[in-house]
Amino acid sequence: MPTHRSPPTTIAAMQFPHLTRAHLPALLARMPKAELHIHIEGSLEPELIFELARKNGVALAYPSVEALRAAYAFTDLQSFLDLYYAGASVLIDESDFYAMAMAYFARAHADRVVHAELFFDPQTHTERGVPMGAVIGGLARACADAHTQFGISASLILCFLRHMSEASAIETLQAALPYRQHFIGVGLDSGERGNPPEKFATVFAQCRALGLHGVAHAGEEGPPAYITSALDVLQVERIDHGVRCSEDPALVARLAASRMPLTVCPLSNTKLCVFGTMAEHNLATLLHAGLCITLNSDDPAYFGGYLLANFEAAFAALPTLTVQDAWQLARNSFEASFASTAQKAAWMAELDAVFAST
Ligand code: ADE
Ligand code: ZN
Repeated sequence: MPTHRSPPTTIAAMQFPHLTRAHLPALLARMPKAELHIHIEGSLEPELIFELARKNGVALAYPSVEALRAAYAFTDLQSFLDLYYAGASVLIDESDFYAMAMAYFARAHADRVVHAELFFDPQTHTERGVPMGAVIGGLARACADAHTQFGISASLILCFLRHMSEASAIETLQAALPYRQHFIGVGLDSGERGNPPEKFATVFAQCRALGLHGVAHAGEEGPPAYITSALDVLQVERIDHGVRCSEDPALVARLAASRMPLTVCPLSNTKLCVFGTMAEHNLATLLHAGLCITLNSDDPAYFGGYLLANFEAAFAALPTLTVQDAWQLARNSFEASFASTAQKAAWMAELDAVFAST
C-alpha cells in the first residue's frame, strides 16, 4: 500500500482566541475523535470476563471480579500480556466476540468516538480451537451494528502475534482470507523485545500485495531501530506507540517530515511503566515537534480508562498542552485514519464546528 501523506498542517498560533484551558473539559468531551489503537480483547471488562466464563464453563485463576481487578498492577508489557491472554480465554463463540465489541462501541460512543479501527488477535483464539469465522464473524457483525446503533464507522485490523513464528502469521493470514472483506489491514503486536519487525517481512509483503493496510507496534518497549525497520522493511503506514523515537533525533525529524502517525496510548504507557508518571510523558514534546500524534486507549479495561480518560489524563498532567493541541490531536486522528478523504473532511468540519460553537 503506497504511503501518501499530506504535508504538515500549518495553523496560525491562535486559531481559537475565544477559548482557554478552562474550556478543555467541555472540548475534550464534545470533540469528535477517531480511535486507531484499541485491542478489542483489551476492552473485556472483568464483569464480562466472569459472565462469559460462567456461560462457557471456563475456569478462571481469580475467585471474583474484585480479585481479578486487584491483579491489574503491571510492571512491564509482559506482566500485562500474561493476564490479557488469560482474560481472552473466555471468548468461545461468535456471540462472545459480538458482545465484547458492542460493549466497547457503547463506551466509545459516550466518549464521542465517531470512527474506530479495532485490532484483534486471531492467533489467541484459533490456538484454542476457536474457528476464525467465529472471531471475525462476531466482530464484523458488531462493526455493522455500531454504525446503525451509534453512528460509529468501524473497521477491523488483524494483528499477528510477534512472539509467535512468521510461519504461524502466514497460516493465520491464509485462514483469514475467506473473510478478507471484513478487515482493512494487518498489525503486529504482543511482546516486542527480541521480536523485531523484520521477523515478519514476508507476511507483510504478502499483505501489501493483497491491498491490506499495514501498521505495527514499535518503540513501545523496543528500541528506536524497531520503528525504523517497521517503516523500511514492513513499509507500515502508522506506528503504534513509537514513543521511544525520542531517543533518536534523526528519526524524530523523519517522522515529523513524513507526518507518519504515532498512535500513542498515555494511560497504557504509564500503567506499563514506559513512563514513570504521566507528567514525564513525551507526547506533548513530539506533538509540538510536528509529529502526527494521536491519542488512544490500547487496552482500556486493563489500563483504567477509555479514550476520553486518556485525553483527560494527558491534559491534566501536561501543562504545555493547549486548546489548539486538543483540536490538533482530534484532527490528527482523522488524518491518520484509513477512512476516505471525503469522510475525513466531513469529520474535520464537525470538529471545527465544535470549537467554533464552544
Ligand atoms: N497487545 C495488547 N496490548 C498490547 C500492547 N500495549 N503492546 C503490545 N501488544 C499488545
Ligand atoms: Zn497496543
